[in-house]
Amino acid sequence: MAVKGIILAGGSGTRLYPITKSISKHLLPIYDKPMIYYSISVLMLAGIRDILIICDQENLNSFKNLLGNGSNFGLKFKYKVQNKPDGIASAIILGEKFIKNDKVCLILGDNIFYGQDFQRKLSKAISSDLGANIFAYKVADPKNYGIINTDKRNNPTSIVEKPANPKSNWAVTGLYFYNNTVIEKAKHLKKSKRGEYEISDINNIYLKEGDLGVQYFGRGFAWLDTGTCDNLISASQFVETIEKRQGLKIACLEEIAFRNNWIKKKEIIKIFRGNIGNTYYEYLMKVVKDKT
Ligand code: G1P
Repeated sequence: MAVKGIILAGGSGTRLYPITKSISKHLLPIYDKPMIYYSISVLMLAGIRDILIICDQENLNSFKNLLGNGSNFGLKFKYKVQNKPDGIASAIILGEKFIKNDKVCLILGDNIFYGQDFQRKLSKAISSDLGANIFAYKVADPKNYGIINTDKRNNPTSIVEKPANPKSNWAVTGLYFYNNTVIEKAKHLKKSKRGEYEISDINNIYLKEGDLGVQYFGRGFAWLDTGTCDNLISASQFVETIEKRQGLKIACLEEIAFRNNWIKKKEIIKIFRGNIGNTYYEYLMKVVKDKT
C-alpha cells in the first residue's frame, strides 16, 4: 500500500507579524532555502513522492510558483486550500480524496528535523504494523506541545495537549504516520477548548486501541521550531553552521531527488539555467559531478 504525504502549510503565522502579513511563514527563508523545503525533504527521505500541500488561498500562487507540480524534484504535488485554520487534524479531512485508500504521513510545514539515523527511523515507521507512528523529542518548554505521559515502564499512557502541569518533557513532534482509519477517526473528532481539531486527540484514539508506536529522538538529534522570530533565526544559524562545516546541504531537494535517481543531471542543469554565480546551483553541480 502506498503512503501519501500531506504538508500542513496553512495558518496565519501571527507570532511572526508583520513579517507574515503578506507572505506565508512557510515561504520564509531558513538560511538558504524556504522553510517548506525542510518538511518536503523529510517526506522524500521517507520515500514519499505523492504530496498534498495545504495552504491558504492568499499564498496558493506563491507555493505553486515555488514548487510547481513537483517534477523538478521528482515528486507529484497537489494543492488544497484551507479556508480557516482549525487544527492539524482537519488536514486529514481536507486530504480525504487525496489519501484515498492509502496510508498517510502528515508533517507540519514549519518543523525541521535533522540528525543521523533519521532515515532508519522513518523506514521503521513506514514498515510498522501499527496503525499510527509518531516521534517524541525532549524539550525544555513542555507546556507548548502535545506531551506524552508514560507509566513506570516508559510505555505511553496518554498524550496531553499543552499541559498546564506537564508530567514529562517528551513532546510529540509534527510528523505523524497513519493507516487509512485515520480518516474515520478525524471525522468523529470534536473541537478542543482552543477551538481546534487536535492531532493529539487522534493519537490518543490510536493509543487506546493499542495501535500507536512512538519512536524517541535522543540527544544529538535536532528538532527545531520556527514559530517565533527567535526560533527563526536560531534555526537559520543551526543550518548555516552544519552546512558550512560539512560542505553538505540540509534539505536540498534536488540533491535528494538526484541521489534517489528521481531526477537526472541534465534536468538539474535545465532547471537552474542562467543561475551562474548562485551558490545553491554551484553546490548541486558539485553533487552531480561527484556522483558521476
Ligand atoms: C502542534 C500540536 C502539538 C505538537 C506540535 C509540534 O502544536 O498540537 O501536539 O507537539 O504541533 O510542533 P501547535 O502548532 O498547534 O501549537
